[in-house]
Amino acid sequence: MPDIAIRGLVKRFGTVVAVKDLDLEITTGEFVTLLGPSGCGKTTTLRCLAGLEEPDTGEIFFGDRCVFSSTRGVIVPPGKRGIGLVFQSYALWPHMTVFQNVAFGLSKKGLSRAEIRARVQEMLALLGLNGYEGRYPSELSGGQQQRVALARMVVTQPEILLFDEPLSNLDAKLRMTLRAELKRLHGEIGATTVYVTHDQLEALTLSTRIAVMKDGVVQQMGTPQEVYHFPGNLFVAEFMGNPTTNLFPAVVASAGPPARVALKWNPDVPLLLPDSKPLPEGAEVVVNVRPEDMGFSVEPRAGYLPATVYATLPTGAECITYGRLTPGGEEVVLKGPSEEYACLSPNQPFWLGLKRGNVFDAREGTLVTSFGFSPRKGGA
Ligand SMILES: Nc1ncnc2c1ncn2[C@@H]1O[C@H](COP(=O)(O)OP(=O)(O)OP(=O)(O)O)[C@@H](O)[C@H]1O
Ligand SMILES: [Mg+2]
Repeated sequence: MPDIAIRGLVKRFGTVVAVKDLDLEITTGEFVTLLGPSGCGKTTTLRCLAGLEEPDTGEIFFGDRCVFSSTRGVIVPPGKRGIGLVFQSYALWPHMTVFQNVAFGLSKKGLSRAEIRARVQEMLALLGLNGYEGRYPSELSGGQQQRVALARMVVTQPEILLFDEPLSNLDAKLRMTLRAELKRLHGEIGATTVYVTHDQLEALTLSTRIAVMKDGVVQQMGTPQEVYHFPGNLFVAEFMGNPTTNLFPAVVASAGPPARVALKWNPDVPLLLPDSKPLPEGAEVVVNVRPEDMGFSVEPRAGYLPATVYATLPTGAECITYGRLTPGGEEVVLKGPSEEYACLSPNQPFWLGLKRGNVFDAREGTLVTSFGFSPRKGGA
């Protein structure tokens, strides 16, 4: 399986720069997700990899093979790139049965009929499509059609798999099932995979690494853990996580160690960062604490911020609780096991702790330090 290297990739559509000087190194057998809001350039990047879009400048290598170079005038057509593609729309051949759709790519590979039958049946079984061999695409649900599309691509064993939001037309339950199928498939075939989605849960659950994009630029490339717990900048911190993370504007009161940070919404309760590096005194910062990294107490507690419960939203195993800081009323969100949160009800006073998180430079938005993580896993 080849690795993928993208260097200095630029793609413009008229005055819109969809991809801006993008560099990406993807290791052999990795599952890399391009994640970001609508219009950030995910599909364009994937289409450049597939050869469906001609970049303005840059280079793309699959292993040692250059498949695109603006300076050397190389542009390998899609059919010669050794890739498999699955898009959001299924694009099955309507006049062929499920069996014929999946077998089509194999029939060109010189396999015997028995081998083709065996491989198609194995793939259909893997994707829960037993018994559907004789149906036509128009006789299938959206989820079934997408599974046929997956089977059809994977059965030919391409070295590079490219996916563009392949699950986004499916209902939530089916999406989860197919995520598991995709992860197992990738584990079994080990093809280098690039997957496009705007669904962060999908990215977190499937990927070996995630490239978070905004406005055609990669903001951070890292493992799901790194991107989630140690966001490289404020955009990534806010984009990742559901509900959206807590961001507290603050100022560095003393450099430390331990550094002391005064939250603008409540300077009376300083935040101490015992494991932080020294911070520049007086610097404007933003403290990020994920909802599940907030602690609470129903009694006043040293270092905890007074607040009142605004609303509790139990989701079964977990409870999302919105609070308002006292006295200013700024919104804070917490998440944790339902049993722990069962004692809270609206308008009740409670006290909030910032157990672990990150500190960002308020002006640049860049990560300055992280606190409360043990053992330290990278970050600043
Ligand atoms: N064929 C095209 N002609 C003109 N502009 C385009 C074309 N394709 C994409 N764009 C523009 O390029 C930018 C990036 O588009 P792209 O489709 O790559 O975004 P995306 O990240 O895949 O978004 P989504 O999550 O909505 O699919 C957008 O501003 C889009 O409007
Ligand atoms: Mg897209």
